[in-house]
Amino acid sequence: MKKQMTLNELFQHMWVDYCHLNPQADAVYKNLTKIGEDVVNDHIAFRTFSHPKISIDKLAHHFTQRGYHVAGEYKFKEKKLNAQHFEHTDSTQPKVFISELDLNQMSPWSQKVLEGVTHQFEASRVDQETFLFGGRPWQADYTTYMKLAEESEYAAWVYAHGFRPNHFTVYINYLKKLNTIQALNHFLTEHGFKLNTAGGEIKGSPEEYLEQSSTMANDILVHFTDGAHRIPACYYEFAKRYTLPDGKLFQGFIGKSADKIFESTHKI
Ligand code: NI
Repeated sequence: MKKQMTLNELFQHMWVDYCHLNPQADAVYKNLTKIGEDVVNDHIAFRTFSHPKISIDKLAHHFTQRGYHVAGEYKFKEKKLNAQHFEHTDSTQPKVFISELDLNQMSPWSQKVLEGVTHQFEASRVDQETFLFGGRPWQADYTTYMKLAEESEYAAWVYAHGFRPNHFTVYINYLKKLNTIQALNHFLTEHGFKLNTAGGEIKGSPEEYLEQSSTMANDILVHFTDGAHRIPACYYEFAKRYTLPDGKLFQGFIGKSADKIFESTHKI
């Protein structure tokens, strides 16, 4: 039997796929390492639908069997999403954030489309260790993508890209020179990267123990059954964490900030 991938091997595959798909994230990473920064990952995020075949717990299994446990739960009412974040017993490992679109809150048409694509693959496919960087296990067409986007940009994103990291996150606390979010954002805009300004460039505050910013996702060419089109892919996120009154670094997420960060994959 083939040996199971270690957690680090799994993350390495995801990172390679993510950089390949998102030259912009790769460029940010290279710009930071060029000036001598250590780029540590705060968290990696995935998106899915609330369908039994691909629900949060199905995706999370890849992590829970490698030492992760649920450490937080979130609801994003307006975007119709539920999410959980997972932490490893070894705190040097990145957190994992998985959100899912609540299909029950979608229109009958969208429900039919999203339910329909899950019939194109076997349930056991989700357990393959390549699943979380394998892209979409279904066929998609651009007309449906555009129509889904009218109701939910999130639904359209998952429909078009499938399963792969939606973003990696630079842990600002570990940066030596650019260790404030203001300094890092300034560095990024100076180097020509476009930041997500929905809800302001910086989401959160030291009082909320977390500040976040992100690039806008770059457009990539996606092959649909009715032609190839350029659409937003993934983004790179930046997070600075602050110490709680109990002396521990805050490890959770803030609903209202994440809500705006989801918009980093919106079409402009
Ligand atoms: Ni994030």
